[in-house]
Amino acid sequence: MEVSRLKSMKGLQAITMLTAYDFNTAKLLEEIQIDVILVGDSVGNVVYGFESTKDVTMELMIQHTEAVRRGALTSFIVADMPFGSDEPEAFALENARKLMGSGADAVKVEGKPEVVKFLVENKIHVMGHAGLLPQTAEEMKVQGKDAASANSILTEAKALDKAGCFAVVLEMVPAGLADTITKSLAIPTIGIGAGKFCDGQVLVINDILGLVEDFHPKFVKRYAELNSEATKAIKDYVRDVKAGEFPDDEHSFD
Ligand code: KIV
Repeated sequence: MEVSRLKSMKGLQAITMLTAYDFNTAKLLEEIQIDVILVGDSVGNVVYGFESTKDVTMELMIQHTEAVRRGALTSFIVADMPFGSDEPEAFALENARKLMGSGADAVKVEGKPEVVKFLVENKIHVMGHAGLLPQTAEEMKVQGKDAASANSILTEAKALDKAGCFAVVLEMVPAGLADTITKSLAIPTIGIGAGKFCDGQVLVINDILGLVEDFHPKFVKRYAELNSEATKAIKDYVRDVKAGEFPDDEHSFD
């Protein structure tokens, strides 16, 4: 998938994007030909159990981007620029190049149109991110509910478009505002908790697979309940081992 093809999907075909942090998940996403794989800094929460994405380092992002690229040799991969890696501009460029060198086709930056502009001028493909910005937000809540903040998100999204982003993630904004932004931009919008009017959708893969038992945000649809499946499988294994029923002849060497 080329950046130009993704851009041309705006208004014609919904863009599908999911996160992946490891080789096997990336392989799965490549096999079903998802449009975009995001190596999100949500890796910090869902893989490492950090409270905040602020604890995610460049080293972690590089390692996970490399693993995802090994599993998805031809997919379009976007890697998040982690907290503190995208300022000042020269440092951002150095880090973006490291992520591209690790297998990413593009990087994602939260806000910061001036940094985006600098990266784009230096031939880095950048996905923008507006609305809720988890790296700096004090609270994970819907943004842009009043006219002033809605207007400032619209202005930010327009600035990201002008700065040269090829697409922009809109996180946790009212559907009507996402609709207005989508209609105002030349580039595709990809929503997470931003309703149905965006040009595409992104979710964290662990959430749609129901891997996390006690996390049920309104914007996540669970397409499987792998947490209960896994719990049952592990309990069965423990029971079999305790009862001397595993390994049996079928799973042993003569
Ligand atoms: O890190 C991430 O998973 C993200 C998505 C929520 C868009 O940035």
